[in-house]
Amino acid sequence: MSDLSGSIAKRYDALSAKDCCLSCGGAFSLAEIKAGDVCIDLGCGKGHDVLRMATLAGDNGMAWGVDISDGMLDTAIRHAQVMGFENVRFIKSELEQIDLASDFADVVISNCTINHSLEQDMVWREIFRILKPGGHFVVSDIYATEKVPDIFRNDSEMVAQCWAGAVTKSQYMQHIEDAGFSQSEVLEESNPYDKGSIQVASFTIKGTKPKT
Ligand SMILES: C[S@@+](CC[C@H](N)C(=O)[O-])C[C@H]1O[C@@H](n2cnc3c(N)ncnc32)[C@H](O)[C@@H]1O
Repeated sequence: MSDLSGSIAKRYDALSAKDCCLSCGGAFSLAEIKAGDVCIDLGCGKGHDVLRMATLAGDNGMAWGVDISDGMLDTAIRHAQVMGFENVRFIKSELEQIDLASDFADVVISNCTINHSLEQDMVWREIFRILKPGGHFVVSDIYATEKVPDIFRNDSEMVAQCWAGAVTKSQYMQHIEDAGFSQSEVLEESNPYDKGSIQVASFTIKGTKPKT
C-alpha cells in the first residue's frame, strides 16, 4: 500500500465510527437512477448513498459501493445487513484500478472522493471503462481555485484530509474529456471557500459515455 493509500485508509477508518457528513454535493439526488439500473458509488464511505441507490434500482437492479477503507466498508456492510438489503455489494478497491468489469454500470456516482487521488486521469479512465455505452456519471467533488503547491500535494496527510489533492476546474474538466466523455455539464457549483491551506469550490458534474 502506498503512503497515500495508507493515510487515506487511516483517516477514514477512524471517521467510520463517527457521525459526520463527508459529502460535498448532491450527486445521488441528481443521478436519475431507474429501476433495474446497475449503480456504483466510488468512495462510498459508510454506504448511505449505496443503500439509497439500491432502493431506487429495486430487485432487478444492483448497487455497488467501492472504497479503500476497511472501517468504512465494515460499517457499510453492517448497515446493509441490518436493513435487509439483498441487491447491494461492497468491494475494497482503489479508484485508479477498479476491480469491476468493463461496460458494467448504468450509473456511476461519487461524492467528495476523487480529489484524494493524485492520478485523477486514471480514475476518470476507469469511470469511462466501467460504464456501459450510454451510461452516465454524476460526480460531486471539490476543485482548487489555484494550482495547489507541490509542498501540499506531496504531503499524503494533507491529501487524505480532502483538499491538497484537488486540481483546478480546467484540469478537472480536461481529465473528464480526455477519458472519452466528449460532453459534460456542471449541474451545481458553490462559491469558493477556505479548506486546509487553500481555496476550493464544490461542484457536481454529469457526463454520458457515448453509445458507439
Ligand atoms: C470524504 S469521504 C466521502 C464518503 C461518501 N462518498 C460520502 O459522501 O459520505 C471519501 C471516501 O473515499 C474513500 N477514498 C478516498 N480515496 C480513495 C481511493 N483512491 N480509492 C478508494 N476509495 C477512496 C475514503 O476511504 C472515504 O471513504
